[in-house]
Amino acid sequence: MIRLTGITKSFGDKQVLRDINMTVETGEILVVLGPSGSGKSTLLRCINFLERPNAGVIESGGRVIDAKTATARDILFLRNQTAMVFQQFNLFANLTAVGNVMLGLTDVKAMKKRVARELSLQLLEKVGLSDKSGFYPGQLSGGQQQRVAIARALAMKPDVLLLDEPTSALDPELIEDVLECIEKVAEDVNSMIIVTHELGFARSVADKIVFIDEGVILEETEASQFFLSPATQRAGEFLKNSLRRYINPADTLLQI
Ligand SMILES: Nc1ncnc2c1ncn2[C@@H]1O[C@H](COP(=O)(O)OP(=O)(O)O)[C@@H](O)[C@H]1O
Ligand SMILES: [Mg+2]
Repeated sequence: MIRLTGITKSFGDKQVLRDINMTVETGEILVVLGPSGSGKSTLLRCINFLERPNAGVIESGGRVIDAKTATARDILFLRNQTAMVFQQFNLFANLTAVGNVMLGLTDVKAMKKRVARELSLQLLEKVGLSDKSGFYPGQLSGGQQQRVAIARALAMKPDVLLLDEPTSALDPELIEDVLECIEKVAEDVNSMIIVTHELGFARSVADKIVFIDEGVILEETEASQFFLSPATQRAGEFLKNSLRRYINPADTLLQI
């Protein structure tokens, strides 16, 4: 479970997050939707203090952490509760797939190399890459690199897995594999917060949708309800515009 209360974040005099309140219960998958620049990445980055919020409280794993007074130990605690998957994968180019997955286990969790390797190979198998464990990122497709990054995040056994547009840097034909992989690993994590523009995927995995615009949460709705009839006009427009992009004029022509 993770709960954010009154989170605000500014860059200079630009307020990017305003009074963010949201809760992800254990076992829940929350999808964050919103236009580009609305603050989605900043929101995820505030949860693990990659960006320090200016104010607000984060509650996780039985601790209540106030952004204004958070100590280095509090921040470490939050980072251990969470793991992040980035749009650009952020793998180490000089380490193999298994080396990337192992790194946090040996260096952060002080696990013995042999044990860490064993666990990492199991995780690579889980994401469908058992035959690629010795490959370097440069020898893998974007979709494969992202699945390594997912295995690496899972290795840390986070309470909450954070994914920031995990498929938006991928060629269209590689997106589906990664989405399937995320659905598969969802069984192994307690909670997930996913920022995505893949509405079909959002609809199929999400329990709850948070819709954010200009740093304000406009709605937090059950996913089935959100896609049926969003509560705010702004979210309705967003859905309509996003769906319009899905309709390929060439397909439409073929059907005529
Ligand atoms: N490190 C930063 N310094 C200054 N402005 C930033 C920084 N990170 C994000 N912003 C600004 O905050 C706003 C929200 O950005 P972001 O959270 O990346 O939005 P989204 O992920 O929804 O596209 C944007 O206007 C962006 O330019
Ligand atoms: Mg973003």
